[in-house]
Amino acid sequence: MTDQDDYFAHHKGEPFRFKERKKEVGWLKAALESFAYLPPFNRMFGKVEPSYAESYWYCLGGLTFLSFLFLVITGIILTLFGPPWWLHTPTGVAVKSMHYWSAQAFFFFLFIHVVRVWLTGAYRGERWVNYAIGLTSLFLALGENLFGVLARGDWESQFVAMHSNYMLFGLPLLRLITPSNFTQVILIHVAFIPFTLLVLIGVHVTLVKLQGIARPL
Ligand code: HEM
Repeated sequence: MTDQDDYFAHHKGEPFRFKERKKEVGWLKAALESFAYLPPFNRMFGKVEPSYAESYWYCLGGLTFLSFLFLVITGIILTLFGPPWWLHTPTGVAVKSMHYWSAQAFFFFLFIHVVRVWLTGAYRGERWVNYAIGLTSLFLALGENLFGVLARGDWESQFVAMHSNYMLFGLPLLRLITPSNFTQVILIHVAFIPFTLLVLIGVHVTLVKLQGIARPL
């Protein structure tokens, strides 16, 4: 750790001195750091995680988050360039594969994260709210996966469209969705669900930072 990075440790509880800090590290870093002094972020920094959280089991939520970021970045690139690019050019196919494998990684880490949360009883007390937010994200992510498969337009996509049409999109409200309508499916996949997930995951991770990591059972 350099002297400059040590700022938080040495000035804990003091007001942030923007001008002083600007001279030391430049305006950009000083401006970014000043966020650490605004609520609710001001309670996130300078915290030491408890020793029971120093384990790979406690990194799974972070890995899920990282996979989600990969999904968002590759998803934005795919959306910008469009189907002919992702289907017929080597770079497009590579980015599409990255998007697919990020989704596999996301669900892999997510399910073990939930097992960890469950086995350590991390849903106790006030954390039930965050458990509920996590669970909502899980179901939304499953829906996001379904619309991703539907948007692909291959044989598997047609098979899933046919079955989901009978099983899911016959239900009240969901009846408004037609799985063979590409425009509708892609809009839900690239806009509605990802934005909701982004907000939910943002709240989830912020709450973990504010509430701290639960003591295992
Ligand atoms: C949708 C993607 C999700 C992301 C990106 C995510 C991310 C995280 C992160 C980074 C943590 C910090 C501790 C750790 O990494 O283990 C955490 C904790 C937690 N997560 Fe998630 N999570 C997700 C889904 C879920 C789901 C589905 C549930 C429950 C059904 C859940 C329940 C919790 C709870 C209760 C904690 C607090 C753990 C503690 O205090 O020990 N999360 N999550």
